[in-house]
Amino acid sequence: MKIGIDKIGFYAPHIYLDMNQLAKSRGVEPEKFTIGIGQEKMAIAPITQDPVTLAANAALEILDEKDRKDIDFVIFGTESGIDSSKSAAVYVHDLLGLNPNSRAIEIKQACYGATAGIQMAKGHIALNPESKVLVLGSDIARYGLNTPGEATQGAGAVALVISANPRIMELEEKSVYFTNDIMDFWRPVYSDKAFVDGKLSNEQYMAFFTEVWKQYKEKTGLGLKDFEAICFHLPYTKIGLKALRTVLEEGTEDVKDRLVENYTASTDYNRIVGNIYTGSLYLSLLSLLEQKEDLAEGSRIGMFSYGSGAVGEFFTGILQPDYKDNLRVENHNTLFSSRTEVTVSEYEDIFQETLPTDGSTVKLNIDEDPASICLAGMSDNKRNYVNKMK
Ligand code: CAA
Repeated sequence: MKIGIDKIGFYAPHIYLDMNQLAKSRGVEPEKFTIGIGQEKMAIAPITQDPVTLAANAALEILDEKDRKDIDFVIFGTESGIDSSKSAAVYVHDLLGLNPNSRAIEIKQACYGATAGIQMAKGHIALNPESKVLVLGSDIARYGLNTPGEATQGAGAVALVISANPRIMELEEKSVYFTNDIMDFWRPVYSDKAFVDGKLSNEQYMAFFTEVWKQYKEKTGLGLKDFEAICFHLPYTKIGLKALRTVLEEGTEDVKDRLVENYTASTDYNRIVGNIYTGSLYLSLLSLLEQKEDLAEGSRIGMFSYGSGAVGEFFTGILQPDYKDNLRVENHNTLFSSRTEVTVSEYEDIFQETLPTDGSTVKLNIDEDPASICLAGMSDNKRNYVNKMK
């Protein structure tokens, strides 16, 4: 039985910061951000969007009534979750009106969470072929104003429906995964910003890719020539290119050209959204599928997932016939073209806005947020969400 990705939804907030403006304000050459880091725009989450609403908006794009009945498992991968106890999946389950006979959980292992969710979903579908699983990867990446990590922030979510007989991509069985205890990036529960050892994180990302790629080749007998494209977890778009370059010499000139060209297509969306942590790899996959015209059905796509701390995995998928008919390119073009640019000072104000932590009541202005699902306020230490479509 084929199991894989049947639908992919995406959502990013309606405001963004131009990286050239950020560079000017921070006194660095714009090319450091646009070429050295490889980012053009950074999605900014207004206070009316949090990881729950971002994920719910991403899923809203793709779910029909049949999905709402068939989905019986919601898996929410996030590392910027809003509650240490209740899972973000339960809120999304309610906001989307899903089948009450569902499981709903949150998974955490830095940017690896959504990949863990997908692998768990595969097992669930293997046991329950009629079911569908909604896997969400949703995050707001925050390092802090004037920090080295600032240029690699972002906000957004990807929603994936995993099912039998998937219409976009079959996920192949063989994959390689690897864990090692590394303090490259972490966020203690008392902090709303991540701590990071930037240099170590880059080194470990590369080391994990080297390790899982080597093991994958040994396990499967496959090599670079067997891949139409390789997608990477993209905290910023330059890093995947660096990882790809470490293996390009294994291919002929044709293979190298193909992989580099397809890598570029796989970074288009990430370049204008920024790091969305758990969803980044799947945003890159979406970018490849929607921005590259001529990927043939049956093509094999490699995927490198990395979650600091650290867990890495290399796994693969096969494009299904007519996969293009199941994408939503127009929606995403509209989403990007209707965003509004904010100034650096507006971004700094938004970054420093906070919600009450003393149980007091706050009502947020959701009229300025075009998203269907918003955070409308807080009272009694509870978040109040609205789905404007209901
Ligand atoms: N023109 C062109 N390029 C320039 C330039 C210019 N004028 N000025 C600098 N550059 C280049 C530098 O040469 C460098 O390129 P190389 O890496 O190829 O040498 C690049 O721009 C970045 O410059 P620095 O290394 O000096 O940048 P930095 O130290 O200020 O910060 C960073 C870079 C470490 C990635 C930092 O942004 C950071 O800490 N980010 C958060 C952590 C992160 O994203 N780590 C990635 C791996 S961890 C992971 O994947 C999990 C996750 O999602 C967090």
